[in-house]
Amino acid sequence: RKKKVCVVGSMNMDLMVTADRVPEQGETILGDSFAMSPGGKGANQAVAAARLGADVEMIGAVGDDSFGHVLLSALKEEGIHTEAVQFLAGIATGTATIILSGSDNRIIVAPGANKQVSPELVQAQKEKIADSSILLLQLELPVETVAAAADIARQNDVPIILNPAPYQELPESLLRSAAFLTPNMVENAAMQESSLYSFIKEKLILTKGKQGAAFYEKGEVTTIPSHEVDVKDTTGAGDTFNGALAAQLSDGRSVIEAVTAANAAAALSVKKAGAQAGMPTLSELEQFLDGK
Ligand code: RIB
Repeated sequence: RKKKVCVVGSMNMDLMVTADRVPEQGETILGDSFAMSPGGKGANQAVAAARLGADVEMIGAVGDDSFGHVLLSALKEEGIHTEAVQFLAGIATGTATIILSGSDNRIIVAPGANKQVSPELVQAQKEKIADSSILLLQLELPVETVAAAADIARQNDVPIILNPAPYQELPESLLRSAAFLTPNMVENAAMQESSLYSFIKEKLILTKGKQGAAFYEKGEVTTIPSHEVDVKDTTGAGDTFNGALAAQLSDGRSVIEAVTAANAAAALSVKKAGAQAGMPTLSELEQFLDGK
């Protein structure tokens, strides 16, 4: 089997405004700057994996509008296979409006075309999932679609990394079929409400921001400490972690090696503004780890 990471996920244009503070209800304030850059948890994770050398296949959808074309070209420039990304006529490309104020970032996603990625659309690409060494999923597509992708992977013995973001309740079969679940602290707290939590605990790889990352193995928790870096923008840090984790695992690394690398990649990613701008290449990551 080829060392391929398949991402079934969202693509958004990120519309980022920076300001000294976030507005109160009913208030208009003057901000500082505006920038547009490619984002979406699916696309971000695909880019993070590709920069670290993985052969990446993206399955998803954009609108047949200017944002959609920009997003597709951005993925192609990273060497990502995009034959399974559909252009949907008459539907807007997904957007994420991001308000960044110091370390506070707030995001509203308007899913647009991402909401139209149906189980049938994914089913039509089942060979691409079956041919992968890892399937990487998030929750910015309809849950039925995420579940359909997971079913195909399970039937073909392709391990699944499920990043439960943005958090929503998930069907038991989906939680069971994931090899790894990668919540952040907020998502993990929500998952603890699940009656399946003791079962899924063994699959957890937790991202803990400034406290690094932790994973469970045979009841033991291993924590990989974070790195001291100058934080410019944390948008996409979790995505960098997930993409890097998938790239490393598909390359045959052990869980501890993969989590260590993903934790460092995420640290590097927050040094630049924009979800994808700071994602490291493999040589940048190796240099950073060697310098430690
Ligand atoms: O995880 C960060 C991403 O979440 C942003 O790029 C934005 O598009 C939202 O999907």
